[in-house]
Amino acid sequence: MEQDSVRSYRLRGSRITGPQQSALDKYWAIYGMAYSESSIDIPALFPHAKNVILEIGFGMGEATALIGRDFPETGFIAVEVHKPGIGKLMARIEELELSNIRIIEGDAHPILRTMIADSSLDGVHLFFPDPWPKKRHNKRRIVNQAFLELIAPKIKKGGFLHIATDWFPYAEYIQEVFTPSPLFTGGVVDRPEWRPVTRFEGQGITKDHQVTDLRYFKV
Ligand SMILES: C[S@@+](CC[C@H](N)C(=O)[O-])C[C@H]1O[C@@H](n2cnc3c(N)ncnc32)[C@H](O)[C@@H]1O
Repeated sequence: MEQDSVRSYRLRGSRITGPQQSALDKYWAIYGMAYSESSIDIPALFPHAKNVILEIGFGMGEATALIGRDFPETGFIAVEVHKPGIGKLMARIEELELSNIRIIEGDAHPILRTMIADSSLDGVHLFFPDPWPKKRHNKRRIVNQAFLELIAPKIKKGGFLHIATDWFPYAEYIQEVFTPSPLFTGGVVDRPEWRPVTRFEGQGITKDHQVTDLRYFKV
């Protein structure tokens, strides 16, 4: 896959546990998809879904699996670059007997560009994106003007992008990007009950480490 935008994720080793690898081996054909240059047939993936949500960077998929369980009428397309998390989420999907989650392995940028058709998403979840706190790394943050322009056409009018971050300066930065944009309206919201607590939440709340939820609607 061509690296056509700034790399917003950290490169990690390929260490994967036995159970994660075995979930990948067993369930890839059912739940997994590799990057492809053609758009995916979303209605065919979730023929009975009332709406479809894309999650970008699900990590180990703890929140993804629980939200999938709690919203059985929604189809979830979950994107992640790291194989251990993909294996882990596949194992959770099996454990919880979920039929409404599919996983795409790869960088969300090219995936959005080619695999996700315009106006095909009711919503996007972006939970605890890598904050890249050092000034010289700020440009690696996934949320920026180019991302906003890439994601906006993919979301239906009135659809949403929900972001949660535990890095307060990133929350401020997200508002700086979104507030002037004519493509979205919205801002900081109360923590929604439907978003499960993940390990990023509640770890030593300081000024910089308070969790902020932001919800933007496509105009
Ligand atoms: C800090 S973790 C948060 C994981 C998860 N959302 C959670 O709340 O536990 C950020 C995740 O986003 C993934 N990520 C970052 N940039 C990405 C991209 N461009 N495409 C796909 N995944 C990405 C990283 O690999 C990492 O797993």
